[in-house]
Amino acid sequence: MNFDETTLTDAVLARIGPDAPERFRAVMTSLVRHLHDFVREVELTEDEWLAGIRFLTATGQACDDKRQEFILLSDTLGVSMLVDAVNHRFPAGATQTTVVGPFFVDGAPEVAHWADIAGGAGGVPCFLSGRVLDTAGRPLAGAVIDVWQCEGEEGLYDVQAPERGTYCRARVRTDAAGRWALRTVQPVSYPVPTDGPVGRMLLTMGRHPYRPAHVHTRIGCEGFRTLTTHLFVRGDAYLGSDAVFGVKDSLVVDFVRHPPGPTPDGGASGVEFSTASFDFVLAPERGG
Ligand code: BEZ
Ligand code: FE
Repeated sequence: MNFDETTLTDAVLARIGPDAPERFRAVMTSLVRHLHDFVREVELTEDEWLAGIRFLTATGQACDDKRQEFILLSDTLGVSMLVDAVNHRFPAGATQTTVVGPFFVDGAPEVAHWADIAGGAGGVPCFLSGRVLDTAGRPLAGAVIDVWQCEGEEGLYDVQAPERGTYCRARVRTDAAGRWALRTVQPVSYPVPTDGPVGRMLLTMGRHPYRPAHVHTRIGCEGFRTLTTHLFVRGDAYLGSDAVFGVKDSLVVDFVRHPPGPTPDGGASGVEFSTASFDFVLAPERGG
């Protein structure tokens, strides 16, 4: 009773019952403390409190089975990258992680080395290859690499343009030497969705919504921790200001331009194309 701004926090915490699960108690205790400290620190007005409630309501209302505005909120506030950071403290030498993003679809078709996964999408033809290794540099055979990216003109993922069918999305397996190889189109930078409450928040914060051009990858291999990461295109104008804070220097790759001529898959291109190569290094399973 008679709670005031100095006693209310402890009163709320004291209501957590003795049977509350231990981890839940720890998380809720910290959440209540930080929320109350935030209200005290900014001296939140009633109008601001209501605006916050309306914003969160609109964020929920913008979600459906294809769109997750709350994850976009988490991404643009840097929370997703923070969760990624505290959960992937990999050993030195292992490839760094970054956000999965909203456009991953499980169960992509597995393709042969150098298969063209562009599915007719526009953009500069691009030949991607490399190896999957352990932290001792040994090649890992049979690793499964999921690759997904936007097309190379408008920056749309296939799930954003369902009328075009599946494109720029596949799964490839490493050979005995740990090698993988694909043909695709070079991705371009693109804006995260801006037609909802998170877009309005970015605008009000004076922020642009762009992500630098990247190829998403997820690598799974028995005995190793699954690696979710990106390959970023060196030279992209948004590398220093990614809307979701996902860029790491070690993931920025040279996409080398070549004039028309012979291509790494043994064929030939009649137009300019690019090549990029990257070795993924996997961390062992915890306790492995
Ligand atoms: C993406 O890279 O696909 C992505 C990540 C976070 C928010 C929106 C898109
Ligand atoms: Fe993306």
